[in-house]
Amino acid sequence: MKKFSSIFFILVVIVAFIGCGKEENAELSDSNFSPTLIEPSEIFPAEFGMPILPADNPFTEEGVYLGRMLFYDPVLSIDSSVSCASCHKQEFAFGDPLPLSVGVFGLKTVRNAPALFNMAYSQKYFWDARVNRLRDLVFEPIQAHNEMAMTLSLLEARLEDIPRYKEYFKKAFNHQPNVIDMSLALEQFLLSIISKESKFNRFFPGNNPSLLTASELRGAFIFNGLVDFDENNMTKGADCFHCHGGELAQQNNPLMGGIANNGLDPYPTDLGYGKITNKEQDMGTFKAPSLLNIAVTGPYMHDGRFTTLEQVINHYSDEVHYENPNIHPQMSAHGGIQLNLSQQQKDDLLAYLLTMTDTAFLNNPEYSNPFKP
Ligand code: HEC
Ligand code: HEC
Repeated sequence: MKKFSSIFFILVVIVAFIGCGKEENAELSDSNFSPTLIEPSEIFPAEFGMPILPADNPFTEEGVYLGRMLFYDPVLSIDSSVSCASCHKQEFAFGDPLPLSVGVFGLKTVRNAPALFNMAYSQKYFWDARVNRLRDLVFEPIQAHNEMAMTLSLLEARLEDIPRYKEYFKKAFNHQPNVIDMSLALEQFLLSIISKESKFNRFFPGNNPSLLTASELRGAFIFNGLVDFDENNMTKGADCFHCHGGELAQQNNPLMGGIANNGLDPYPTDLGYGKITNKEQDMGTFKAPSLLNIAVTGPYMHDGRFTTLEQVINHYSDEVHYENPNIHPQMSAHGGIQLNLSQQQKDDLLAYLLTMTDTAFLNNPEYSNPFKP
């Protein structure tokens, strides 16, 4: 009898314990749950205007910080060796100096890792514009066999076991760690990454010429197509602004050069956006990247084929494949002939591109690895 009652007692304790655990797991509306909201106007500079933001994922201090921890945490990969930041490095504007990035087991990606900033102003992501929301995008690298090769169930179980995630998922979302809230936290962090302090960005709003050197200013004219080149006095210029224009140095309207073919190949092997839409006119078109921080985001283009900006400029000046049937009209606006910029013009254009580097952004502690002191 005595034995029985002590077993009974133990059982009661166990049941009570499980009960407790259950309660903790339940999605309670906890009156202590009070994340600190961040006003979008604190994140997005007035000059850039207010982007269209997801209505159901407001920025909070806790959510952005959780997203930042996840971005830098290798536990998101199968063998805990690769984090988002392994391929998206802050010092390179969250791009990668390798043409193709290296994921788990030394496997390589098939495209160059793009820089990450001012993404809230885009509606389409990846070189082939195949994803519309960052919260959906994050599941791709996490599960890709050559990036992080993780399964979502294993990831969820792992996060549940890590005290800092228990704490921060609760603080940010009032839930136990789970992959849906993980995607929302990463979305908050990614959307909050802003680059706005380059010399170019100081020059742009008022077009204040005194901020630029003579060479940079000549470069600005070439970039914006405000140059007379030929003997017939036809106004020609490099017309870069069509697809890399405005303060973001990026055309975010897919129909206006935001997704385009810039004449890299006569017959592209990577079909880009065309593989997604299956339309003939989209074959070999790609998202036009922002040129902010372009000095540090090399190598360039979706396959990282150009190592230097000089090579990029030579491409646009002398090597455009006008025979490509899908070349964007703004690339051949001048009769489909090469621009043939002079060496001076190339140097000036380069000088202008170099004004687009934002060193405050590259060193901004708000975006740096939170696990490093
Ligand atoms: C192994 C390297 C690697 C890892 C790890 C990686 N990425 Fe990427 N990332 C890439 C490559 C390569 C692309 C371009 C893929 C494409 O366009 O098809 C890319 C594209 C992106 C883009 C699209 C940007 C744009 O403007 O179109 C975002 C956002 C992004 N990654 C975020 C992340 C996040 C968040 C993680 C972690 C969960 C992550 N990446 C992990 C290599 C990587
Ligand atoms: C018709 C639109 C269009 C015009 C005009 C244009 N570009 Fe581009 N640019 C693109 C596209 C699209 C890409 C990406 C192509 C790819 O990777 O396949 C690109 C890529 C680039 C890149 C590489 C970016 C990176 O992160 O890898 C640089 C640099 C660049 N362009 C500079 C310029 C300059 C300078 C000019 C003017 C001489 C110019 N572009 C004119 C559409 C355009």
